Amino acid sequence: KSLLQEVEAFSANDKQGLETFRLRYVSRKGVVGDLFEELKQIPNEEKKIVGKILNELKQAAEAKLLVLSEQLEATASSNVDIDLTLPGIPNITGNLHPLSLTRYRIIEIFERLGFNVADGPEIEDDWHNFSALNFPENHPAREMQDTFFIEKKSGRDSQDVLLRTHTSNVQIRLMKSQKPPIRAIMPGRVYRNEAISARAHCFFHQVEGLYVDKNVSFSDLKQTLFHFAKEMYGKDIKLRLRPSFFPFTEPSAEIDVTCLICKGEGCVVCKRSGWVEIAGAGMVHPNVLKNCGIDPQEYTGFAFGMGIERVTQLRYQVNDLRLYSENDIRFLRQFRTSN
Ligand code: PHE
Repeated sequence: KSLLQEVEAFSANDKQGLETFRLRYVSRKGVVGDLFEELKQIPNEEKKIVGKILNELKQAAEAKLLVLSEQLEATASSNVDIDLTLPGIPNITGNLHPLSLTRYRIIEIFERLGFNVADGPEIEDDWHNFSALNFPENHPAREMQDTFFIEKKSGRDSQDVLLRTHTSNVQIRLMKSQKPPIRAIMPGRVYRNEAISARAHCFFHQVEGLYVDKNVSFSDLKQTLFHFAKEMYGKDIKLRLRPSFFPFTEPSAEIDVTCLICKGEGCVVCKRSGWVEIAGAGMVHPNVLKNCGIDPQEYTGFAFGMGIERVTQLRYQVNDLRLYSENDIRFLRQFRTSN
């Protein structure tokens, strides 16, 4: 009885205490073991009763050993050296790709001017990518060395299938499917058959803009792009239009901005001329409107197109186009806005 009380009252603070308990009460060489030895000498009629008591003692000791070792483990794990004053381990999350950051910013600026965002296919037929945009039959852009053709077709009405070379195909799809007023920007990926280098890639991204309505004029185009440039590159930016040529716009212009070093959101890389090109633009050619079933006597429109890579390059001073698609985590992490 007193042994049973001892067993029940025992408490172990450490491993050594636990071992002491085991040796004394559970091991065969301990006190309980000794009692079992003594059991052999007592007369048979008492053996039964004493044996039963001893067995209960043994079971109690074994159960207690289990409880003690569990208690010890529990306190051990809560006693590991935890410094609660240390800052937590940050949860590293992903971040948007720099081209996405730029695309979202461009969309934000134009949405406030009332432009919708439109989308179109990257695999396109010749008509939507070239013919409808007033490219003549033998235009050099249609050459294999400029365009990735997927399927060359012969026959009068069948169209070659290709990877779009610009987002202007979406202009055509919009004008075919909607009535003016149309005011949309069209971001997307485009493909050209070019050798990959720091300055050229076989795919890149554009944002095209289109505004078709009654009385849309060249000054609307200029003010729209001027507003965009100020928002994107800073208030002090100046805009310059140089005459240019695209089959689908007339007149056509190339848009330059002045090089300002890190003002506003962007850092414009300075060229020796003091100007850097950001977009191509012009008034939608009457033939293009006609091809889409819009009367050029009633409606006019402007269109512009710019490279998202170029804008990103000016914003973040990335000088090698290949970085955008190499997926180097060290490059991508630099555009993290939090963490
Ligand atoms: N599609 C032209 C290009 O890829 C850009 C452009 C779009 C020019 C709209 C004028 C108007 O170079």
